[in-house]
Order: sequence, then structure tokens, then C-alpha cells
Amino acid sequence: MKKRAVKKAVIPAAGLGTRFLPATKAIPKEMLPIVDIPTVQYIVKEAVDSGIEEILIITNSNKHCMENHFDRAYELENRLMESQKEEEYHMVCDIANMANIYYVRQKEPKGLGHAILCAKSFIGEEPFAVLVGDDVVENRDGKPALKQLIEAYDEVQASIVGVQTVSDEDVSKYGIVEPARQPAGRRVKLSSMVEKPKKEEAPSNLAVLGRYVLTPEIFDYLETQTPGAGGEIQLTDSIKSLMISQAVYAYDFEGIRYDVGDKFGFIKATVEYALEREELREKLQTYLKDLVTTFGQPEA
Ligand code: UTP
Repeated sequence: MKKRAVKKAVIPAAGLGTRFLPATKAIPKEMLPIVDIPTVQYIVKEAVDSGIEEILIITNSNKHCMENHFDRAYELENRLMESQKEEEYHMVCDIANMANIYYVRQKEPKGLGHAILCAKSFIGEEPFAVLVGDDVVENRDGKPALKQLIEAYDEVQASIVGVQTVSDEDVSKYGIVEPARQPAGRRVKLSSMVEKPKKEEAPSNLAVLGRYVLTPEIFDYLETQTPGAGGEIQLTDSIKSLMISQAVYAYDFEGIRYDVGDKFGFIKATVEYALEREELREKLQTYLKDLVTTFGQPEA
């Protein structure tokens, strides 16, 4: 079999972001900053650091500021140069040079599966990566999550979904995989998958968390997929169909994953990323310690 490398990625970012209203009424949730960097920039960086060369972002009519963010901004660049703000100048230019980024609009928010189907002609006949636009994964001292999945793909040349273990209480929030056998290492072959099962019906506690490497045959199933949970075209249903003709694996990736489309996930990411910043760490630690001891206490 001819080996195919993963060089293209899709970032679905056309969801409505209803969990984050009213902020997302006019601003895409992917542009909300974690400290001072928009979420989508962390995700593009993970893709680039994983060896991806071309990225397609799935957007909608409300999300053009994402395109501006990854474009040149000549007026701002000139002003920064004139005022000798070299560091800021390079920071702004570097964002425009991060990757070859393309955009396509999903005309209606018909679900993650439908958003990925919008990438069909961009992907063609190649295997490709998917990085969900509101899942940020940080693996500070190790390989990016997507790189781990791509390396697993290189070994088996089959679709891989990125998973981590979640609590019994949380299985109903995610796509949950059913391993074909007891996992021996990080990679395991799957026999099935289910979207947002009830706690009692979940086949495992391994939840799919926003990172995938998929073979192009997935599009055959997405095209004919009938709407599933929530009336949306579910990627999970198509991956389950793909399993009938091809092996599909799960890979338990290393790293901390933040669901930044959820308010609490976003707050956690903001605090933890800020604590990683040298210029903020000490001030924030002191502030948090004081806050924990004094918050809610009656004033003396
Ligand atoms: P989510 O379900 O987390 O996003 O989809 P959402 O629909 O924006 O969230 P809420 O529940 O309304 O707050 C996972 C990813 O798939 C994208 C989203 O942008 C997100 O990155 N998505 C979802 C699409 O691109 N199109 C869709 O129709 C649905």
C-alpha cells in the first residue's frame, strides 16, 4: 500500500457558540483571547508544529475577523514601524506568515460532520487532520496532540480519533469510543462509537476530544449521513460507518485539553496560560492566593 502523509488540516469554526452568548453574538468564540492570543491562533500553531502545510478554516458570515487576523495589516504595521515598536511589528507580521490558510463558509450550522463535508474538494484524496476550533490542547514539555495522532496514523495508515479518559458524569457530553479489545498502550482499535451516551450506556470512558486524523473515504459517509443527535450531521455517525470498511483507531493523547467553548473551560485556560507567562506569574499567584482566603469573607 502506498503510504500517504498528512499535510492538510481542517479547523471547523462555524458553530454558533451558544454556550458563550452574549459574547459570541458578534465575535466568533474562536477569536476570544486566552490571555492575549485568540483561541484559533493556538490551534493553527499546533497544526503547524505538527507538520501541517495547508489549513482550511470552516467559517460563516459572522466570522470574517478570523480572516483579518491571519492576513497582513499594513496600516497597523506601518504605525508600529514608525513608532519603533519592533517587537509588536514582528509579532503582527508573523501571524500572517504562520501557514497557508484558506477559508470556506458553511452556509448553515448543520453540525460538525456537515462542517467537515465542506472541506471535501480542498482535501481531495489525501488523509487529513481535524482540529476542532474550540478545543485547545497544551502539552508543554512534549509533542503537540496532533503530532502524536499523525505519528500513530503513520504506523497504521488508518483513521485515528484523539481520546482521553473522562469521568462517568461527563461521558454524556462527548463522543465515546468502544475499543475492540482492552487497550495495551496509547493506541487501540475500535469496534464502535456513540455520540453523547447516557452514563449507563457508555461503552467506555474514552471521550473524543477535538483531534482527528481521517482518511478521505469519510466523505463518502458524510455525504449520505442522515441527521443524528440534535438534528445535526454528526461526525461520530460517519466514523462509525467508516469502521465497517476500514479500521479506525483511538489514540489516548498526552496533554491538557481545554474546552474553551465552555465558560469554565475558558476561565481555566485563561488562568493556567497566564500562570505560564513570566511577566504575569508572580502577580497572578499572589492575587489568586489572596482572593481564595478573602473572597466571600465579610469585610473587617
Ligand atoms: P460545538 O458544538 O462545540 O460548537 O462544535 P457550537 O455549536 O458553536 O457550540 P455551542 O454548543 O453552540 O456553544 C464543535 C466545533 O465544531 C464547529 C464549532 O465551531 C466548534 O469548533 N461547528 C459546529 C461547525 O463548524 N459547524 C457546525 O454546524 C457546528
